Amino acid sequence: MSSLAVFGGEPIFSEKLHVGRPNIGNRQKLLERFNDILDRRWLTNAGKYVQEFERRVAEMIGVRHCIVMCNGTVALEIVIRAVGLKGEVIVPSMTFIATAHALQWQEITPVFCDIDPKTYNLDQKRVEKMITPRTTGIIGVHLFGRPCDTEALAEIARRRKLKLLYDAAHAFGCSYQGRMIGSFGDAEMFSFHATKFFNTFEGGAIVTNNDELAAKIRLMKNFGFAGYDNVIYIGTNGKMSEVSAAMGLTGLESLDEFISVNHRNYREYKRELESIPGVQFMTYDETEKCNYQYIILEVDEQTIGISRDQLVEVLHAENILARRYFYPGCHNMEPYRSYFPHTGLLLPETERIAKRVVALPTGTAVGPEEITAIRQIIRLAVENGHQIRERLLQKNP
Ligand SMILES: Cc1ncc(COP(=O)(O)O)c(C=O)c1O
Repeated sequence: MSSLAVFGGEPIFSEKLHVGRPNIGNRQKLLERFNDILDRRWLTNAGKYVQEFERRVAEMIGVRHCIVMCNGTVALEIVIRAVGLKGEVIVPSMTFIATAHALQWQEITPVFCDIDPKTYNLDQKRVEKMITPRTTGIIGVHLFGRPCDTEALAEIARRRKLKLLYDAAHAFGCSYQGRMIGSFGDAEMFSFHATKFFNTFEGGAIVTNNDELAAKIRLMKNFGFAGYDNVIYIGTNGKMSEVSAAMGLTGLESLDEFISVNHRNYREYKRELESIPGVQFMTYDETEKCNYQYIILEVDEQTIGISRDQLVEVLHAENILARRYFYPGCHNMEPYRSYFPHTGLLLPETERIAKRVVALPTGTAVGPEEITAIRQIIRLAVENGHQIRERLLQKNP
């Protein structure tokens, strides 16, 4: 135990291992596209690469429309406005802060709803209880790429006349009941941020089968321009640049490769970690399409003696930069914490899960050898949980 870096030993990794390392795809192909963009001097504003990227994504998801944007947050803000959400919207708190901010930014109140501890997604039984006369919609988040209960949410939305959107930032390339995520609800949003397994540096998209909504979103993301000198709607600047679209097209050509690296890592981690008592390994439904981009462990402090945070401290000292996604939950961050200081009382599962989950490094940064080493550290920490806890408490009283 004394060899652990947290107690002064050498870190097991000399370089930091991050949760994800950006995928690039075929560099030569990417540079050819960049050169073509520079030669053609068409850098943005619905150029050839943006148009082709939109066509390819729509085809892959099986939807009528894909509108790519500068990032996922702006895409979310625009679709929220385009479907006419106002008043209150039901969202999980167990998500990245952008889901809530995209609403509050437009003075719409995010009403945080608790999650199902088995899926970490909106608990449909609780959604209905959160509806008030001010509620106009629901935004489900397919957390870590695992699908929401889309049937149950659609049924509630239909019956209560609410709009239904999905934040599918984590779920590009995933399916549910054989249908690609991106084709559910009124519209869905993807993020192509550099931290995602598929990226366009910065970027995002809205996908939908609704022609009218798509037309409105296209106007809104380009200042409302309907032609030269003709603005017919309020809008903003949500456009994706040509270099980002070129990155997206290049990445799409290697998507299967990116996923197979994640899948290999997932299988390795699963084999290594599934049998350790007190740490629950998050599994994916392998009969569906999955991107396997998050490796998630749930730590049971009662069983192993150390908390999730102490395990993270041990891992960080070894240069394994595990992350506490999405601690402490949006409701415990500003401005929501000040606006509604007691929301946590309504979110017992969110509070519990946010203190237990940890995301481990994956993607091309790790392979079987690294995973075996990470497993050794986790096993050592778990098997000596009580002693480690005592020593950590002595170290930082
Ligand atoms: C669940 C979720 N929603 C929204 C976003 C925001 O996307 P972007 O960073 O592309 O603005 C992210 C991550 O970045 C996310 O993880």
